[in-house]
Amino acid sequence: MTKILAIYGSPRKKGNTALLLNEAVTGAREAGAQVVEIFLRDLKMSPCLEIYGCKKDGRCVIEDDFQMVYDQILDSHGIMLASPIFFYAVSAHTKILMDRCQSFWVKKHWIEQIPPNVQTYSKKALFISAGATKGNKLFDGALLSVRYFFNALDAELWGKLLYRGLDFEGDVKKFPEYLEEARSTGKSFCQAVQAAMET
Ligand SMILES: Cc1cc2nc3c(=O)[nH]c(=O)nc-3n(C[C@H](O)[C@H](O)[C@H](O)COP(=O)(O)O)c2cc1C
Repeated sequence: MTKILAIYGSPRKKGNTALLLNEAVTGAREAGAQVVEIFLRDLKMSPCLEIYGCKKDGRCVIEDDFQMVYDQILDSHGIMLASPIFFYAVSAHTKILMDRCQSFWVKKHWIEQIPPNVQTYSKKALFISAGATKGNKLFDGALLSVRYFFNALDAELWGKLLYRGLDFEGDVKKFPEYLEEARSTGKSFCQAVQAAMET
């Protein structure tokens, strides 16, 4: 069974990125995936405290809801992450999760001693984002973080869906073609994850 983790990173549970990710989840389920959905907004998660308790065995020592997310990440074959653009970066909820995943980075590069230039991928990832404005560089900052974040999780950035000009809650509904694209991409993502598992 293909296991996909869908992470909602917006504080708005019915916002633009949430609606888009929800469509991608529907598409992935249509293609046969088992999808676990996590709304970061609902979790109690401390930011990384940089105490490096994870140096022992790669597991963060802060006891909060991150422990559940950590297990879900380990258990997944594919990860779909959605975050709005906040000041040319990901949302604070998303960034807190990313920083807590330094524990994955420590496991990979310090404990298992995999050199940073050697990239091994055991998972695939899809990133979904939206911003209000329309500039060329709107997603550059977020994409740089997201790419390095997924590398730490051993996840290849398989695809990205980036939408400009969406601001108010539900604006994306004015663009059914965006929602359709998210659904079909969720389906293709599941198929790509399945294909990778079979090889
Ligand atoms: C704190 C904050 C910062 C934002 N910064 C940007 C920005 O830098 N560029 C931009 O185009 N939109 C910015 N926006 C607008 C959001 O990206 C936009 O409303 C997006 O559609 C929200 O997605 P959501 O509904 O999934 O939360 C910002 C909104 C907030 C609340």
